[in-house]
Amino acid sequence: EKGGYDYFMLKEIAEQPKAVADTLLGRIDAEGSLTLDEVRIPAAVLREATKVVIVACGTAFHAGLIAKYAIEHWTRIPCEVELASEFRYRDPILDHRTLVVAISQSGETMDTLMALRHAREQGARVLAICNTNGSTIPRESDAVLYTHAGPEVAVASTKAFLTQLVACYLVALYLGQVRGTKWGDEIRAVIRDLARIAEDVERVLETMEPVRALARSLAGHDTVLFLGRHVGYPVALEGALKLKELAYMHAEGFAAGELKHGPIALIEEDLPVVVVVPSPRGRSVLHGKVVSNIQEIRARGARTIVIAEEGDEAVVPYADHLIRIPVTPTLLQPLVSTVPLQVFACELATARGNEVDQPRNLAKSVTVE
Ligand code: F6R
Repeated sequence: EKGGYDYFMLKEIAEQPKAVADTLLGRIDAEGSLTLDEVRIPAAVLREATKVVIVACGTAFHAGLIAKYAIEHWTRIPCEVELASEFRYRDPILDHRTLVVAISQSGETMDTLMALRHAREQGARVLAICNTNGSTIPRESDAVLYTHAGPEVAVASTKAFLTQLVACYLVALYLGQVRGTKWGDEIRAVIRDLARIAEDVERVLETMEPVRALARSLAGHDTVLFLGRHVGYPVALEGALKLKELAYMHAEGFAAGELKHGPIALIEEDLPVVVVVPSPRGRSVLHGKVVSNIQEIRARGARTIVIAEEGDEAVVPYADHLIRIPVTPTLLQPLVSTVPLQVFACELATARGNEVDQPRNLAKSVTVE
């Protein structure tokens, strides 16, 4: 059942290339266009949508935060992302031209279910992104795009997250395709890159030994901070969440640009800070800014753990530990940058003697509000 691994989580981390490939299977045709016939929401409805609202909890919420960057960039439709537990209590503005996307691995999360019920009562169309066939959330939605991660047993979500990202990219690209935006060429190029990305995830997994060694060396620390920018910001949040739930350590993710507005006061000698660096090619302005952030925190004594693209030499002088990830299109980077953070949290949890698959106080699916 654990397939030779000590924990389900390790097995599920290792299964990510397959989970990603399976989630793409049959959804890209020979011409490189998307065929999401399963999204039974009529093309006319998708063309007329004035707003996308994503609701989800925990790790699925982080997938939603990343989806916002992709949806707004490729489709120019405004997109909001909200914690499902906050959504209906603030009387959100919704109508029949709002497309609500509910993301849930289990399909049984009560907060997400209540949010989608509220959205449908207001006339919005709901598309579920879900990993569990026939579960409540897809049954109560107008349409569903299933992720094909296979059963996820470990409480901490790993492979389901990567497949949620893939599904979010598919939704964003499909909306772009249906609506025909000026990014047509970019959309086709990204679909090609997406079709190859499972190999990149595999390559990351092959180079994780130094990350494990680093994690073990940090077992005595109390706090780890995570910084990121653009799509790297939700990745930082996800890295921090994994560490909290598995290692029971104080972990916080920040948008790197916010550092100077407060969090930099936390930096002290030998504090481990993980920084997810954007590609130096895509949003190159951001790359330079994040490199300056690394320089600033290191000057204040932080121990910098830098996740950067292969070939990014600018980070080398400021990285106490350097974790390399393959070159990917900017918006797709979370599919590779999240993986080292999962491995890091899992190994730290083990080093601290914690139960990896069953962290204290947590349940796999939260069926109460
Ligand atoms: C974190 C984790 C939780 C879930 C959240 C939503 O590792 O597993 O944060 O992501 O409870 O669960 P689903 O996706 O089943 O709705």
